[in-house]
Amino acid sequence: MKIEGKVAVVTGAASGLGYASACALAGAGASIVAIDLDAGRMARLRDAVPADRLLIHAASVADAQSVAAAIDAAVARFGAVHIAVNCAGVADAAKTVSKGEPFPLATWDKVIAVNLTGTFNVIRLAAARMVGNTPGEDGERGVIVNTSSGAAWQGQMGQAAYSASKAGVMGLTLPVARDLAPHGIRVVSIAPGLFDTAMVAGMPENVSRAIIDRMVLFPNRMGRADEFAALVRTIVENAYFNATTISLDAGARMSSR
Ligand SMILES: NC(=O)c1ccc[n+]([C@@H]2O[C@H](COP(=O)([O-])OP(=O)(O)OC[C@H]3O[C@@H](n4cnc5c(N)ncnc54)[C@H](O)[C@@H]3O)[C@@H](O)[C@H]2O)c1
Repeated sequence: MKIEGKVAVVTGAASGLGYASACALAGAGASIVAIDLDAGRMARLRDAVPADRLLIHAASVADAQSVAAAIDAAVARFGAVHIAVNCAGVADAAKTVSKGEPFPLATWDKVIAVNLTGTFNVIRLAAARMVGNTPGEDGERGVIVNTSSGAAWQGQMGQAAYSASKAGVMGLTLPVARDLAPHGIRVVSIAPGLFDTAMVAGMPENVSRAIIDRMVLFPNRMGRADEFAALVRTIVENAYFNATTISLDAGARMSSR
């Protein structure tokens, strides 16, 4: 899909991979509908995206009504939704049993609600609008990009909820792509390795260094958000990407901790 002139909904747009994706798509000429819980940090998008191509909407991706309102506002302002990029996510961790205490179910529910239910919530509401788009080349009406994780199949200790949520994103990719193929909508997920964003900023330097040295093949560093955003852009532009989860991880193989 040619990005110029299209409308892209980007979640998690206040930070990290979502912010970089919003900037990259805007740089290629898209209008951006930015969704995040963090309205304050989304405001910095105003420095990167022209005002007439930016709509900022504070919402939780897990909330059906809030996301429906954001998609309605996007269509009212820009006339359509062609691209949806799901980056909103949380990484709350706990061991299944820690110091005799079971994994808090509230933590499990939160991670699944944001990462898995939230991703599908945006997919279903964006896709319901995409099906009405005028078909472009090859009959294409929309592109959906989700964020899974290497943790989907190689989660570390403490990542039961996170890994389950990201495996869920990977798992829904094919059936949703199958559902939407008759409408000319592609669905692709990205499984990043370790990326230098706020999500990993809380990690002590020696811990992230150890992960890089022991688990990342080459290059010997974390990924940069602009490298993720470049893949998002390529997936949107290259119509032959569909129904798959692509690793972007410098060959990383995670160990148990
Ligand atoms: N950084 C990594 O190493 C890494 C690796 C694999 C996967 N991922 C995934 O990439 C995605 C982006 O993560 P990031 O590294 O940019 O992290 P980040 O913390 O920088 O950004 C995540 C954004 O999601 C927003 N968010 C959280 N809950 C939300 C909700 N309920 N509704 C709307 N927005 C919400 C946060 O406010 C934040 O702006 C996440 O899904 C994460 O799981 C990250």
